[in-house]
Amino acid sequence: MTADFSWVPADNIVDVDLAGEYLRQNFATVLPEWAKRPPFYVMQGGYPQLVCSRYRDVTEVLTDTSRFSTVRPSDPEAARFVKFKPDKFASVETLPQMDGERHARIRRLIAEPFSAPAVARLQGDIDRALDSLVSAIPVNDGVIDLMPGFARELMVVALLDTVLQLDEAQKAVFIRMNRALPLTARVKPGEPFPEEYHSAFAATAAAINDLIATRRAHPGSDLLSQLILTRDGSDVLSDKELFDLIFTFSAAALESTAASMGAIVLTLCRHPHILAQIRQDSALIPAAVEECLRLQGPGYIIVTRYALQDTDIGGVKAPKGIPVYISPQAASYDPERYADPLVFDLQRQNRKILTFGGGIHFCAGSRLARLVLHKGLEKLLARFARLALADKNFVPHYFGAASEAQLSSLPLRVDV
Ligand code: HEM
Repeated sequence: MTADFSWVPADNIVDVDLAGEYLRQNFATVLPEWAKRPPFYVMQGGYPQLVCSRYRDVTEVLTDTSRFSTVRPSDPEAARFVKFKPDKFASVETLPQMDGERHARIRRLIAEPFSAPAVARLQGDIDRALDSLVSAIPVNDGVIDLMPGFARELMVVALLDTVLQLDEAQKAVFIRMNRALPLTARVKPGEPFPEEYHSAFAATAAAINDLIATRRAHPGSDLLSQLILTRDGSDVLSDKELFDLIFTFSAAALESTAASMGAIVLTLCRHPHILAQIRQDSALIPAAVEECLRLQGPGYIIVTRYALQDTDIGGVKAPKGIPVYISPQAASYDPERYADPLVFDLQRQNRKILTFGGGIHFCAGSRLARLVLHKGLEKLLARFARLALADKNFVPHYFGAASEAQLSSLPLRVDV
């Protein structure tokens, strides 16, 4: 039986492919317009999806767990809707795919290793790892490519080398898996994932299971050992939960940080007076990074929520089960939230960006990510007294998994 979607108002449907290349390459011009409009519908394969892009709508969906969840309601009424974005992790159950007490329990168990004191303890090791990375960036005729030479390696050295303490072979397996994730970007529900995805997944599964066994037998100072030892009263993480977490951390961390660093440096090169200011005073780096991420983060839409009941968002109907896509990046351009939203304002008050999400699914690794971005930028500026776009007419090209926008290349002139 075909569902009846005649209730969707034709004048509030936007003709855009959410997983398409047009949006990925043009989000910087499309999203500032979305930021000003109430939620709207997008028809994908004949099924309505709702998109929220104003700051207040995005915040409402992220924080109201009684009306919205990352877990789809299971009854037939909700099954009328189809989500046109695959759950890309096969048998892995990631934290964003859980809600309620199941989710809260795992967040309690991982809270300590991601706490402020735990991340502060990592600072010395991360500093040393980033020093080696920055000093090894290859320069050719006065030009570097920031993406392969630096941005894409940041979390490899910070998370895989330093925090998880993987050896070269284990690292290669995790990197291969991360590079296979974008292959799922255009897979429709019911279609098979590409063979390379399955093969990379199998190799990663074997590597993670092996790691869990080794670290259980000989716990060290790495993150997995901490997760094995962590407890909440008598509660501990099972092998399956450890597996899912390690997979999730790696999938959540590598490309998002690479894309963020690319976006930050591109934004600074487009605002040379700000770059000059933070060179003079490195205490300005955290504020500059937040403002850069507000202007351009690593993606344009994040994980979907589902309406748990018939409701509305900003006066727009959201029937039970409808997939709701939220765009923190569009929210960053909302003029009701940010005065002159497209202007780089280092002194902006009450900036509070949504780049790391909000509510119960707020990014577990945000402290680690910010540390790596701040330190990485500081060390990049220390090595290169000049950083400027190699081509002043540079046109960015983006790639990534669904809704991610990572620069494929960022050539910079570094000779003075
Ligand atoms: C600049 C880099 C990063 C960005 C922009 C980012 C962004 C986000 C966002 C927006 C969410 C929320 C997803 C949702 O609401 O559905 C999220 C969740 C998450 N992130 Fe990050 N992330 C980054 C780096 C990291 C790192 C380094 C780690 C771990 C090592 C990490 C681990 C996680 C985890 C585990 C979740 C799921 C939290 C939950 O569902 O409770 N992220 N991240």
